[in-house]
Amino acid sequence: MNLICLSTVGSRAGFVACLFMLFSCSTLTSTEAYDRLDPNGNITIKWDIMSWTADGYVAVVTMYNFQQYRRIQKPGWTLGWTWAKKEIIWNMIGSQTTEQGDCSKFKGEIPHSCKKDPTVVDLLPGTPYNQQVANCCKGGVLSSWAQDPGKAVSSFQLSVGSAGTTNRTVTLPRNFTLRAPGPGYTCGPAKIVKPTQFITSDKRRVTQALMTWNTICTYSHRLQRRLSDKD
Ligand SMILES: *[C@@H]1O[C@H](CO)[C@@H](O)[C@H](O)[C@H]1NC(C)=O
Ligand SMILES: *[C@@H]1O[C@H](CO)[C@@H](O)[C@H](O)[C@H]1NC(C)=O
Ligand SMILES: *[C@@H]1O[C@H](CO)[C@@H](O)[C@H](O)[C@H]1NC(C)=O
Repeated sequence: MNLICLSTVGSRAGFVACLFMLFSCSTLTSTEAYDRLDPNGNITIKWDIMSWTADGYVAVVTMYNFQQYRRIQKPGWTLGWTWAKKEIIWNMIGSQTTEQGDCSKFKGEIPHSCKKDPTVVDLLPGTPYNQQVANCCKGGVLSSWAQDPGKAVSSFQLSVGSAGTTNRTVTLPRNFTLRAPGPGYTCGPAKIVKPTQFITSDKRRVTQALMTWNTICTYSHRLQRRLSDKD
């Protein structure tokens, strides 16, 4: 780019053309480069039901940053969804909702969150061990897949109540939203997929989730710009 500029800078028109090229070139790289290099990049959020409970289920939610280059930087991801029915969250390990909502109709044990549309954030590093699950508690900061796949994963566990207790009666959460950390991500509808298989650490046994669904979120620079202007 600089070379072209030096050779055209002789005439006034050349200088203007050069400025224009510099400008369009820099806008191009800043708006599209990553997406073009990584057209299938996405963040996949998977829910694995690990057990059914008296009034719902326990699920482990895992977020994979499959984007080759885009990291999730401080202050980290924020995940939201809307419950399909009257579900509540009894408790969470490795993350928390930002608001409890109105749990006034509960006596005895009070849920962690009664909001119809909970917003969840990761816990910070240094969280006590008894409040951790594997891959939690990184303050929502994730590497990109190309950078370090081991650090591009984030997990938390939640216990859901007032929910279905079989794979036929459970209803999938809707309208997933992801800020990572800014706007620009659009998440598709949750879809039931093949149950995840887990291999024990000694590799001698394979277990599987009782049910698995996922939602795939993709990034758009155009959307990010439009929403940032509104912020
Ligand atoms: C999301 O990324 C994963 C891993 O690269 C890929 O297997 C999958 O096809 C992608 N999904 C979509 C909808 O792009
Ligand atoms: C999900 O979002 C769509 C469109 O944004 C809206 O029409 C619908 O009511 C929402 N559903 C729930 C359960 O909030
Ligand atoms: C639900 O569970 C039954 C067995 O209890 C199984 O055959 C079926 O494939 C499961 N469906 C889903 C969507 O996981």
